[in-house]
Amino acid sequence: MKSDNQQKLRADRVWLTEDACDLSDFRALAEKTTLLADYPTASAVEKNVLIYNSRKVIEAASTPAGRRAVLAEICEAFGIGPGVVVFKRAYEDTSIIDRASTIFEEIIEEQHRTSTGGGDHFAKPGANDRIWNSLEKHCLADPENFARYYGNTIVALASEAWLGPHYQMTAQVNRVNPGGAAQSAHRDYHLGFQSSKVIEQFPAHVHRLSPVLTLQGAVAHCDMPLESGPTLFLPHSQTYEPGYLALKRQEFKDYFEQNHIQLPLEKGDVVFFNPALFHAAGTNRSKDIKRVANLLQVSSAFGRAMETVNRERMSAKLFPALKALKSRLSAGEIANAVACCAEGYSFPTNLDRDPPLGGLAPKTQAQLMHEALEEGWSDETFTKALADQAAKKLS
Ligand SMILES: [Fe+2]
Repeated sequence: MKSDNQQKLRADRVWLTEDACDLSDFRALAEKTTLLADYPTASAVEKNVLIYNSRKVIEAASTPAGRRAVLAEICEAFGIGPGVVVFKRAYEDTSIIDRASTIFEEIIEEQHRTSTGGGDHFAKPGANDRIWNSLEKHCLADPENFARYYGNTIVALASEAWLGPHYQMTAQVNRVNPGGAAQSAHRDYHLGFQSSKVIEQFPAHVHRLSPVLTLQGAVAHCDMPLESGPTLFLPHSQTYEPGYLALKRQEFKDYFEQNHIQLPLEKGDVVFFNPALFHAAGTNRSKDIKRVANLLQVSSAFGRAMETVNRERMSAKLFPALKALKSRLSAGEIANAVACCAEGYSFPTNLDRDPPLGGLAPKTQAQLMHEALEEGWSDETFTKALADQAAKKLS
């Protein structure tokens, strides 16, 4: 009998099920109060969400020890804290945002003209406009603006805090037009995009793994008062382990409806949140605000990102722009832009052709780009080196 019982306990530990989700267990974890005293770099707690003044964060992270402390604080805010953080004025110079908005508008118009462009996982057709892989489209349309936009210090800090270095940036624009309805409450990629039947086939440690392999962010491209429907969040909900399954149940959906919070944003603010946080885009009740956010989905170097990105093509396009901007962007900003563009990880590769000479891992695309920038290579030399490197990685 004892072994039968052990088998049952083991199965319950390893196999999470929709049926076993329990609202009172969830509430015991999610109904926590975020304490400002636990986050010394933060400026405020509003509706249980941590609010950071971006300039203060950058100053606190300006020494190596300060940077480690800030990264640790933000890491815990995403993990065991509220799971969602607002960085006010992450883009102090909003002309960078405005130029990117113009590029995005042109892409959306082109999608309308040519009846291309994608559908959406969580919204009805027509309520919004999407630009999938806005990262690559932005880079190819205006590499100089891309360098300024993705050179952003806060975007790099938040990404590194949760994922470590060599993260893979991807981005998607969502423009929710007036009248656009709210999304249903969800968690995000990877397990968030699967049915219960599929999710239940993954052992519990994979439920814990999925959220540490990505980070969600949103750059506000316009002021977003509450009537325009900024994202609905349920702080601390990322800590409930079976949460990918719980959101399929009505009592959890109802709980989200009654308890979610919403914060107004201003143009240039950036929100980052744990992909396991319960959230949904809000209803746009305004008459005339087209609510535009560029959604950043950042993946760990070790994870598989949601979108295919041609980083070789982007790197070739960005390289001349970075050379031209060398005196106007700091070394850190250039490194941030390279990190969002080029592949930062050595693997997978073909170790016969691409051996780890002089180290443990073969040279990455990002390392190649830094080398080319330092040594002032011609565009042609760099483009050829990118192609040679890509060829070496093939089987
Ligand atoms: Fe989402």
